Amino acid sequence: MAKLYIGTNTKMVQTIAQSKAFLTKLGTLTADIPREQMELFVIPSYTSLESAGIICRNHGILLGAQNMCWEDTGQFTGEISPLMLKETGVEIVELGHSERRHLMGEDDAMVNRKVHAALRHGFTPLLCIGETKLQKMQGIADEVLRIQLQTGLFGVDRNPPPLRIAYEPVWAIGVDGEPATAEYAEQRHSTIRETLTTLFGKLGASIPILYGGSVNPQNALSLIAKPHIDGLFIGRSAWDAERFDAIIRMVLPCAMAK
Ligand code: PGA
Repeated sequence: MAKLYIGTNTKMVQTIAQSKAFLTKLGTLTADIPREQMELFVIPSYTSLESAGIICRNHGILLGAQNMCWEDTGQFTGEISPLMLKETGVEIVELGHSERRHLMGEDDAMVNRKVHAALRHGFTPLLCIGETKLQKMQGIADEVLRIQLQTGLFGVDRNPPPLRIAYEPVWAIGVDGEPATAEYAEQRHSTIRETLTTLFGKLGASIPILYGGSVNPQNALSLIAKPHIDGLFIGRSAWDAERFDAIIRMVLPCAMAK
């Protein structure tokens, strides 16, 4: 029986108080869902991590961080070290989100160093990849995804690594984004699966691949119904605990029936 992988990154939106209220409500609402059926994770702001960690542990929610420096310590003003994240109970580290790549200038080489640091410290990297609108128009989406995977995961020799992939087309993310159709997303997920198999052999096919980019109550079910879509990585539509819980309940039976 398959498992549902589902989570949210709350970006630079929720304060500490808001994160705590959100997590407490989400944990309570989803308490009856056995965690063997679902990997539920929340990636709050850095300042919320410590208090969020306590609530997450009590409710079977995995705690994630939105980014991480590749170095353990040193002169890196404004960065956050894997050791600091460890202290807060973080288990998942989101790396290479589109907003990091396109607004903050992160490239595949930086993402690759972060992946290695995350694995070295026992975190599960959630590697985000996706093509821009122009690359989609040029018909090179699959090539872009292959490059992002091959460079982002370069030198990773654990087989398979504890890893989650989030396919998030840049043009689909955020208020101005337009969600990918389930068919389009499925084609890209299939390319990602193939590439992971090339990189890690047969076991690479077991690495969960999540879709993200304007997931909402209207499109969640058609996305999860696709064979290569193992989970959903949701922004705005998950920031209200009741709405998020409703999406989870809608997609869970379909994910498990795969
Ligand atoms: P969105 O965000 O669901 O609000 O488009 C997705 C993401 O950035 O992961």
